[in-house]
Amino acid sequence: MRIDILCLFPEMLASPFDYSIVKRARERGLVEVVVHNIRDYSHDKHHIVDDYPYGGGPGMVLKPEPIFEATESIKERVDYSDLPIILLTPQGRLFTQQVARELALHQNIMLICGHYEGVDERVREHLVSDEVSIGDYVLSAGELAAMVVVDAVVRLIPGALGSPLSFHSDSHSNGLLEYPQYTRPKVYRGWTVPSVLLSGNHGEIARWRWQQAILRTLKRRPDLAKQGNLSAEE
Ligand code: ADE
Repeated sequence: MRIDILCLFPEMLASPFDYSIVKRARERGLVEVVVHNIRDYSHDKHHIVDDYPYGGGPGMVLKPEPIFEATESIKERVDYSDLPIILLTPQGRLFTQQVARELALHQNIMLICGHYEGVDERVREHLVSDEVSIGDYVLSAGELAAMVVVDAVVRLIPGALGSPLSFHSDSHSNGLLEYPQYTRPKVYRGWTVPSVLLSGNHGEIARWRWQQAILRTLKRRPDLAKQGNLSAEE
């Protein structure tokens, strides 16, 4: 997979992909993350990428030309057949595990990080194929949202996780929150690990975990349970 990120502050993205699972996936050649500075595609000598909004009002708006030219230039260099171009914006559809799974199926994705009061509407209308928000709050830098999206997508690429099964139990992977986890020591400050986990009975352990995941989801995120994710038995 190749992920191209268009942004105004590439320095912000210099290190987040150099750690942990994303780093390993890059080293294994499973994903390439390429960061582009939108300013490199502005033609004036001050590399201006924003301007005042027509009609007045506060703040600045990202101009369309550098964004269109950046994506066109990348598309000329890389063979992009099914490329989704995704604008990161609080106005987008909510980024969930389901959306991450959808994006992980693509060979290439392009992420555009918004800034300031937003981007010229023509970018939305004539360039991007999708708009994604990582939550109902406003960030000052779309780069932060790009980090979140890249991380959640890359760990779903086959081979990215150490164990091929480890994402099956992740919270949200099956519509439920993950069950409680414990590790050594068996007793810490008098608090003990549930005895079923020490029993060695794999059937019992699986059943306990499944029950815990259901209880936890009902208690913490009844909205998820309500979405029809639970079977009659659950
Ligand atoms: N840019 C600013 N806020 C954002 C959000 N919530 N999600 C994605 N991009 C953003």
